[in-house]
Order: sequence, then C-alpha cells, then structure tokens
Amino acid sequence: MKWAILALAAIGSVLAILQGAGVFHQNRPETVRIPYDDHAAVAQGGIIYANACASCHGKNLEGQRNWRERKANGRLPAPPHNEEGHTWHHPDGELFEITKYGTAAFAPPGYQTDMLGYEELLSDREILSVLAFIKAQWPAHIRERHDILSRGKG
Ligand code: HEC
Repeated sequence: MKWAILALAAIGSVLAILQGAGVFHQNRPETVRIPYDDHAAVAQGGIIYANACASCHGKNLEGQRNWRERKANGRLPAPPHNEEGHTWHHPDGELFEITKYGTAAFAPPGYQTDMLGYEELLSDREILSVLAFIKAQWPAHIRERHDILSRGKG
C-alpha cells in the first residue's frame, strides 16, 4: 500500500515538473508571432483590449497607480502595457502564454494574482490580436527591440 502512495506521489511531481516546463502547452512559444503589422488583427485587438484588459491595465495602457508596489492584500497592481511598463521585456511567446494561462502558471505554487488566464475566454487568435494591438502602440524603436528579443537574439 505504501509503495502505491509513493508511486503516485512520484508521478504527481513528474507531472508538475512537466507542466512547469510548459510541455503541455499546445502552442510552443517559439512558434508564436504577434501580428502587430496586420491592420485587421490590431483593429480587432483594440476592441478586445477595451472590453477585457482596459479595466485593469488602463484605457491608454497606463496600468494602475504605483504598479511596482504590492497592494495591502499582497498582490501586484496591473502594470502598464505602454513603453514605460515591463510588458515589452517579454518575447512574443511569453506574452502569449502569460495572457493565455495567467501569471500564476509561471510563479511558485500558491502565488496570488489578479492576472488570470484568458484560456477559456479568448481564442489563440484573439489573444494574438490583443497583443498585436498593444505592440502596435509602442514607439518604433521599442517594437524593433522587441522583434530582436522575440527572435531570441535580445
Ligand atoms: C483583473 C485585472 C486584470 C485584467 C482584466 C487583465 N490583467 Fe493583465 N495583469 C494584471 C495584473 C495584476 C498583472 C500583474 C500580475 C502579477 O505579476 O502578479 C498583470 C500582468 C499582465 C501581463 C504581464 C506583464 C509583465 O510585465 O510581466 C500581461 C502580458 C498581461 N497582464 C496581459 C493582459 C491582457 C492582454 C489582458 C486582457 C486580455 C489582461 N492582462 C487583463 C491584471 C489584469
């Protein structure tokens, strides 16, 4: 009986490690490209942004006040998505995965966050469109740096 419990525990931790490594994620980050030069995607993304993201990340991508300081409940405020924020320091694949699976998927177990994943609410194409809208707002030099970062040469 004891060995069975040990075996189950071992399988559980292997699964947790695989999940942490992103093995179960269908879209491999390196194959994801944010289509910020596709006008239709950017337009659709603008509508999705206003409906799904602006309430926390701000109508003009400005984020919440004092976004670097944790709130009284220990959670981080929503960061800006403009060039002053941290968003553009993540390559395309990571932005896609954070939006799809939420921040907790990339943090230690039990991490509390207001950034939940949009897996159930938005299709992969919609997630890419909203990120395209965000990237299209950045100045050209930030977009270029982000292109280089996303190609893995940043
Ligand atoms: C309920 C509030 C809320 C909504 C709505 C929301 N977010 Fe967030 N988002 C957050 C918070 C809070 C963080 C920081 C979380 C943390 O690090 O724990 C965050 C972080 C992020 C990050 C990581 C940024 C970085 O610099 O690491 C991305 C990308 C992101 N959100 C995208 C989106 C997109 C796209 C939408 C709309 C589809 C959205 N979020 C909707 C609250 C929200």
